[in-house]
Amino acid sequence: MVSRFDEIIERRQTGAVKWDSRKEVFGTEDVLPLWVADMDFACPPEVVDAIVKKAQHPVYGYPKQPVELFEAIQGWLKRRFDAEVPKEWLGTIPGVVPGIRMAVETFTKPGDKIVIQTPVYPPFYSSVEDLGRHLIKNPLKENDGYYTMDFEDLERKIDAKTKMLILCHPHNPIGRVWTKEELMQLAEICRKHGVIIVSDEIHSDLVYEKGAHTPFYTLPEELSQQSISFIAGSKTFNLAGLFSSIVISNNTKILDEFKSTSAKFGLNSINLFGLEAMIAAYTHGDTWLDELLEYLKGNADYISNFLKTRIPEIKMRVPEATYLGWLDFRALNLSGQALRDFVIKEARLGLNDGDSFGVEGQGFQRINFACPRSILEEAMERLEAAVKKLQS
Ligand SMILES: Cc1ncc(COP(=O)(O)O)c(C=O)c1O
Repeated sequence: MVSRFDEIIERRQTGAVKWDSRKEVFGTEDVLPLWVADMDFACPPEVVDAIVKKAQHPVYGYPKQPVELFEAIQGWLKRRFDAEVPKEWLGTIPGVVPGIRMAVETFTKPGDKIVIQTPVYPPFYSSVEDLGRHLIKNPLKENDGYYTMDFEDLERKIDAKTKMLILCHPHNPIGRVWTKEELMQLAEICRKHGVIIVSDEIHSDLVYEKGAHTPFYTLPEELSQQSISFIAGSKTFNLAGLFSSIVISNNTKILDEFKSTSAKFGLNSINLFGLEAMIAAYTHGDTWLDELLEYLKGNADYISNFLKTRIPEIKMRVPEATYLGWLDFRALNLSGQALRDFVIKEARLGLNDGDSFGVEGQGFQRINFACPRSILEEAMERLEAAVKKLQS
């Protein structure tokens, strides 16, 4: 059956970093770009219509925050997660990474310790270190490609200087959707030690099992009071270039403090088109997203089956969420630069190096499979040919 997501949309020469920065990033344009986390798909038609309509009014002055925005988000969170979120819990921020940085700035001081669970999205490291805070790593435990949290290691590492934990929920790059039980255990440890949790939920709509994701702010109040969460349509609806995200906290003191820091840095408003896009997406995007999830799951299954049957040396567990696959190349015995060269020069693929997510990612590469299936087929053929050549 043909899907709307099979359409190949030309992105070269559009200024898209994924396609037009290949020379700078990989040293060549001759790679299929399956790296930075945006999708090669058109966003929902209702979003395009809303942006075009807004663009046709020729005055692009300062927008006020429309009530429809928070209403649309409230409706979405209710429909998708059965979460009742009063609008007093919501605010805007131009991006999730700016949000994490603002949270670090607001709730910790230089020299304080902040925990991250590695391997993890690289800006988690820089958001801590660039602001002069001390990074504490609580590595995830891996068992046959399945990752879990190491609570004992966490408890051991928390001390009086530990003020924050940045949670990737669902987790990029390893694709876990943390269960309610895992979240409660984590929250309990953090509550006991007065550690605030910053929950990055940018991938929370891209979960393959309906109902599997538990938004952090829906945990029992005593466990979620010391937390602040971020969501966005950037990944879900492919709107990353609009720089528009949402902050959520059920603790108004925390939210007010956060808002006052972001106002201090001029980061409390979002742009005109981001507002329109979010209203349209969160109001009309359900069916589109359900179709997308089916397609993405098909892509993940395709990669997994291809690897099992044709390149068993490379492994990938189908992620529980995200359009990011964590490819385990360790059996090929290639070290950092050799693996990078192999992927770029021999397989002619533009992936993300596993070790950019931390030392735990050595021997891994991350593949972004949010592209038409035919592109993925080409990518897998290239990879198979490269592995065969390596072994011949
Ligand atoms: C876990 C995570 N957080 C944040 C972002 C980026 O957020 P933003 O573009 O809103 O700053 C990404 C993008 O890949 C991500 O994977």
